[in-house]
Amino acid sequence: MLIAGNWKMFKGVGEAGEFCRALREADLGTVDVVVCPPYVSLAAAVQALSMTEIGVAAQNVHWADDGAFTGEISAPMLRELGVYGTIVGHSERRQFFGETDDTVVKRILAAMEHGLHVIACVGETASEREAGDTESVIRRQVGAIAEGVADTDDLVIAYEPVWAIGTGKTATPEIAQEAHALVKSILDVPVLYGGSVKPDNAAELAAQPDVDGALVGGASLDVKSFATICREASHS
Ligand code: 13P
Repeated sequence: MLIAGNWKMFKGVGEAGEFCRALREADLGTVDVVVCPPYVSLAAAVQALSMTEIGVAAQNVHWADDGAFTGEISAPMLRELGVYGTIVGHSERRQFFGETDDTVVKRILAAMEHGLHVIACVGETASEREAGDTESVIRRQVGAIAEGVADTDDLVIAYEPVWAIGTGKTATPEIAQEAHALVKSILDVPVLYGGSVKPDNAAELAAQPDVDGALVGGASLDVKSFATICREASHS
């Protein structure tokens, strides 16, 4: 069971260090724990969490090792910082920054080539679900990854229905289970659930047979609520 906290564009260096020092002291149960700070706070997080089991991952990575790509960060740069992995293909990147199934695969391959673990995100929007397209969207997104990535040892998929992200509208455990089973039928890797995971719904989601953890946004920004989610998920 893996619980990853995606901080999105929250917590600069000072706050990140403070959070990680508090996280070191917290009771996190028995799950594997990863935090994903913004780029500028990665070094502070790596330092504050050194000699612990808690991993630090980035929120994105470019596919080239270096080059004229203003504003981008490469896998070797992340490795040099001591970062353990990266999120790829988050719906916010697909929605606002032109990420496609194609670029997601390129980023996954580059990350893995340099020894980074990857959490690759998939999930349908509200209108896709309403139109009855959930299955075809998941098949397309996961299918692209299955086709493009041969070695999936260091790969985890996060199923994050876009309508559940930051809305407080969590997928029911049944909806999550159904989607996770579909993902696994296409690509046999662990699948995290993401979308309004909170201390009071973490246990029932984690109890589903094909839910292997959670990718937590808002509720990962507070040490107490993040630690509670970790402990709740530990019971299943
Ligand atoms: P929330 O937990 O804030 O809904 O965000 C989920 C998410 O996007 C994690 O990557």
